[in-house]
Amino acid sequence: MKCYFISDLHVDFYSPMTRSMEPLQKAFEQFYERNFLPADACCIAGDIANDYFTYVEFLKFIATKYAKVYLCLGNHDIITEKKSHYGKDRDFLTSEEKIEFFCNEAAKIQNVHLLENRVADGVAGCMGMCDFEYKHVPGATATQNKMLWKFCWFDGRHWNYKGNDPDALWRHYDQAMLSLTQKQPNIMMTHFLPLEFGMAERYKHDECSNFFYFAGAKYLENMPDGSIWQAGHTHTAIKKWFTDSKGKKHLLLCNPVGYPNENSYQEYGLKKEDFVVEVV
Ligand SMILES: [Fe+2]
Ligand SMILES: [Fe+2]
Repeated sequence: MKCYFISDLHVDFYSPMTRSMEPLQKAFEQFYERNFLPADACCIAGDIANDYFTYVEFLKFIATKYAKVYLCLGNHDIITEKKSHYGKDRDFLTSEEKIEFFCNEAAKIQNVHLLENRVADGVAGCMGMCDFEYKHVPGATATQNKMLWKFCWFDGRHWNYKGNDPDALWRHYDQAMLSLTQKQPNIMMTHFLPLEFGMAERYKHDECSNFFYFAGAKYLENMPDGSIWQAGHTHTAIKKWFTDSKGKKHLLLCNPVGYPNENSYQEYGLKKEDFVVEVV
């Protein structure tokens, strides 16, 4: 089975802010032609849209292009804006409320699987989280990372998730990633990026990089030999093999669209064709 791996669509940056379906469909078609490739299945590792309306309409659209679509949530998908682009008719007071809404909407589309801490057809998924342990700036501490996340970073300011308690969030995703990988899926999807992917040049120079990554070796070791880990969040395309401490090999894939002013393929000279992969 051929699967196309992609993430970080941020499709609301490429489509008109309207509820009129004709221009929206046209924008989705153009976006699809530019960024997607045909395959039997498609895996989208989060950051579809900030806005709930664009998110749900895009799910309905992409479900017409592939026999199966698997998704996990991204940090942009779960933001809780008091005022959306479309007015105030649907406010999500907590991220939990918005996640529940998306899970219910996805469940209405027969071939779409929103993997919110679960496995479907051998594909496992959850959003993941930064572990606050990675220290990007000399002298940084985990406590400092958590404070900066909560009060200054985009997620801490725009989420309302588990009371925005960094320890509770990391505990939740650590457990989720352990239990999902123990089920030995062929594909594991997270939005946040395991450090084992390596750090692209632009993130080496980004003082906020500690909010993108987590140490992933202990989860990768649970996965079967030849399995795939797909992630996103960082907007540089990566494709590489990783050998874990038990000698098993895992294919690491990150194929973000990113924002209109970004070119995710530039640094490693990759192209979208590199992300159509034959999977068992
Ligand atoms: Fe993103
Ligand atoms: Fe992200």
